[in-house]
Amino acid sequence: MSKSWLERRKRDYYYRRAREENYRSRAAYKLLQAIEKYGLIKPGDVVVDLGAAPGGWLQVARQVVGDKGFILGVDVREIEPLDYGNVHVILGDITDEETLRRIKAVLPRPADAVISDVSPNISGVWELDHARQIDLAEYSLRIALSILRRGGNLFIKVFQGEFFDEFLSEVKRYFRYVEVFKPKASRKESAEIYIVGMDYRGSQLNSLESW
Ligand SMILES: C[S@@+](CC[C@H](N)C(=O)[O-])C[C@H]1O[C@@H](n2cnc3c(N)ncnc32)[C@H](O)[C@@H]1O
Repeated sequence: MSKSWLERRKRDYYYRRAREENYRSRAAYKLLQAIEKYGLIKPGDVVVDLGAAPGGWLQVARQVVGDKGFILGVDVREIEPLDYGNVHVILGDITDEETLRRIKAVLPRPADAVISDVSPNISGVWELDHARQIDLAEYSLRIALSILRRGGNLFIKVFQGEFFDEFLSEVKRYFRYVEVFKPKASRKESAEIYIVGMDYRGSQLNSLESW
């Protein structure tokens, strides 16, 4: 880690704020800003958080859903447990079919919201990172389509680049209202951007009583 990176991080407003407010990541503010603007998550919701480590989004989601909601975080990295009975975690790879089966086995009912902040390890080669990230976003979308209830919401990170428009069109096929959102907490120089999909057109299957 270079010295200048460490110094920049110390000066970063959201990094400092996250430390003061006990969030596990500065990313927490990206989700907070999206919830403020779109009302993506509500009290009592079932929320699935893909790429959830270290857990900043889990903390924010828990604040919003409260005691009556249910949250499931998934990551290939270990997530230190949160002190709430209704926040669950799965150690798993979203590209592995088994992970989807495990998610479904844990959820009490189809999800009201799927949020995905999944990122590959960054190589620094823009085209490669973009292609890898879009591939992961595609896996997140597939999972969302199979676990969301009709009318549910999606919040998903994508890196901008040549495959972005195609991915956005795909999201538009499945959600009635779709917007592209760059939260203030997302660094200007970062290629990341978020797609907000509201009101999943739905699959009859996900709404079945037998879930
Ligand atoms: C930017 S971090 C998420 C930060 C999180 N939203 C927070 O607020 O703490 C991206 C995460 O995606 C995870 N990830 C990358 N590839 C994955 C995969 N195939 N399956 C599951 N998680 C993955 C990484 O391990 C990493 O923890």
